[in-house]
Amino acid sequence: MTPSINLVYISLSGNTQSFVNRLKAYLQPKTNLPVNTINVKDLVKDQEDFFAMTDYFVAFLPTYLEGGNGLDSGDVEILTTPLKNFIAFADNYRYCYGVVGSGNKNFNNQYCLTAKQYAETFGFPVLDDFELRGLTDDIERIGDKILELYTAQ
Ligand SMILES: Cc1cc2nc3c(=O)[nH]c(=O)nc-3n(C[C@H](O)[C@H](O)[C@H](O)COP(=O)(O)O)c2cc1C
Repeated sequence: MTPSINLVYISLSGNTQSFVNRLKAYLQPKTNLPVNTINVKDLVKDQEDFFAMTDYFVAFLPTYLEGGNGLDSGDVEILTTPLKNFIAFADNYRYCYGVVGSGNKNFNNQYCLTAKQYAETFGFPVLDDFELRGLTDDIERIGDKILELYTAQ
């Protein structure tokens, strides 16, 4: 059994931060495992502050793309690359159960596109997605999936 549930995320305008905090509050009474949240933005000196994960984690990734349309023209990931670097660091991706994408459906085909790109790059699944801060339904659905992942071990 894994000693802790780890939620690794990045949040620029606070939506993902809010979701992860509410998710932790949902999960904690339902499990004996400690629930840790790791904000990659707090690891200020990219790489230098990074560490090797020794426990499984779920990544939470908002979408910030510049240009492109998600279909046939290029798009550039902006602002969230520290999370990608952390997942790549010391092969941390081996401990990643998967990524939960977030975004805004107004972006159409680019909705949560970066999560799909991470899944392809690192070979883990997109576990789910939610819009903006997420609704209570999202918290419960995603929280239950995470509990299943940690108890299925
Ligand atoms: C400059 C910018 C670009 C964005 N690009 C996308 C996008 O391509 N696809 C998408 O689904 N959402 C996009 N969003 C919406 C954000 O992913 C969404 O607001 C998210 O909840 C932000 O999370 P955060 O508050 O944790 O940083 C964009 C937002 C901004 C400000």
